[in-house]
Amino acid sequence: MLSGSVISVISGKGGVGKSTVSANLAVALRRMGMNVALIDFDIYGSSIPSMMNISHGPKSMNNKIIPVESHGVKIMSMGFIVQNNDPVVWRGPMLGKVIDQFINEVIWGELDYVVIDMPPGTGDVAMDVNRLIPSSHQILVTTPHPTASHVAERAGKMAFQNNHKILGIVENMSFFQPPNLDIKYYLFGRGGSEQLATKLGTNLIAQMPIFEPKEDDFEPSIFRKGSLLFDKYTDLAKIVDESMA
Ligand SMILES: Nc1ncnc2c1ncn2[C@@H]1O[C@H](COP(=O)(O)OP(=O)(O)O)[C@@H](O)[C@H]1O
Ligand SMILES: [Mg+2]
Repeated sequence: MLSGSVISVISGKGGVGKSTVSANLAVALRRMGMNVALIDFDIYGSSIPSMMNISHGPKSMNNKIIPVESHGVKIMSMGFIVQNNDPVVWRGPMLGKVIDQFINEVIWGELDYVVIDMPPGTGDVAMDVNRLIPSSHQILVTTPHPTASHVAERAGKMAFQNNHKILGIVENMSFFQPPNLDIKYYLFGRGGSEQLATKLGTNLIAQMPIFEPKEDDFEPSIFRKGSLLFDKYTDLAKIVDESMA
């Protein structure tokens, strides 16, 4: 069984940074001393194993699954089931079973937080997860682009329909700031997320800048101490923890 507070990270569409936000939020909560699980339910776009540099799947013990640990976070991912990056065709019941297994047949131990990387949009998986986890706190990820925030609005409205609470909006890829320069370039526009927050009656809780991955970094999506994004995620984890208290 799952203990702890569930934070689902949702978005209207793929590619806006949902997995990046999920992974870094989970790692930042862990740094605060919390016991944290990260569940990646994004079947078609599962990317947590590669982001967290995980090359092996989970082990099992007495018919129970032992989650994989990385950065001190306990992880289960749809990517562990899909081998070799093969494309998958999931049928409804099978999918529901896997989701149920991740929640009920994994030895999670005592948890403070469960961060869930949800599939984008409002499809089948989202509905299955809603059924098994009826009330969670949700973080809505969007880019500042007006089209992205328009699509995100649908995901936000679904959260309300399902009695989830929207913790806030995380705007990702907000701006680019060249190193050591005091200029910000708003490459994807500005203002979409503030409007979205007003429409959904929630707050914009973070604006994450665009980063440029280094070529020799094997884990470029997990931000290290000394980077601006490391500090931004530390702040986000504090905001999340305070609003759950
Ligand atoms: N703030 C950012 N700056 C630059 N690239 C980013 C940022 N956030 C995410 N990315 C990159 O954009 C791509 C999509 O991000 P990802 O977290 O996988 O999105 P999603 O899970 O919503 O599909 C990835 O290659 C990721 O490394
Ligand atoms: Mg993803």
